Amino acid sequence: MQLVFATHNRHKLDEVQSILGTDFKLLSLSDIHCVEDIPETSDTLEGNALEKARYVHAKYGLDCFADDTGLEIKSLNNRPGVYSARYAGESCNFDDNMNKVLQELQGVSDRSARFRTLVALIWKGKEHIFEGIIEGNIISSKKGGEGFGYDPIFQPNTYDITFAEMEMSEKNRISHRGLATAKLVDFLKKQIL
Ligand code: IMP
Repeated sequence: MQLVFATHNRHKLDEVQSILGTDFKLLSLSDIHCVEDIPETSDTLEGNALEKARYVHAKYGLDCFADDTGLEIKSLNNRPGVYSARYAGESCNFDDNMNKVLQELQGVSDRSARFRTLVALIWKGKEHIFEGIIEGNIISSKKGGEGFGYDPIFQPNTYDITFAEMEMSEKNRISHRGLATAKLVDFLKKQIL
């Protein structure tokens, strides 16, 4: 079964494809020759995920899903949240974002945080939303070289290693995106029974 994943991020596509398994073949935006930047104008994760999925469905007429993820840090009033990608500014990289978070948390005792992923699916013309959450803590300095984004500073509850020190398969099993994708897959499998 083919389905568009409305993303330009190859890393994310590979990660989700490995959770989906071989029943599904994900098509990226480049596979469907969508080269433009899809607008993400909402101030919520759910709003952005829906906006992207609606854009692809309206323009290409294909079943598709889109996701949006944010790191929500309790002591920072859930920032960076929907602004996680460009937290340290327009042309920032992952290190800039992590450095900003670490600086803002200096001297702060409650370092609890969670990753939250919203997946919006448009399937046979109807919209469906799936959510995945993982709770953890922001550690005081970066550890590990795997993954991407804020992985080196996020330690999931009950673990003593960060996401960036985990095997990809282990991260997929417990992560926000893994959980949201598992709900998506459950739904899709029921549709083709
Ligand atoms: P997106 O909505 O998946 O593009 O995620 C927005 C931003 O959240 C990314 O640019 C990353 O900074 C961060 N992010 C998303 N997923 C992860 C993850 O699994 N680990 C670490 N950071 C992530």
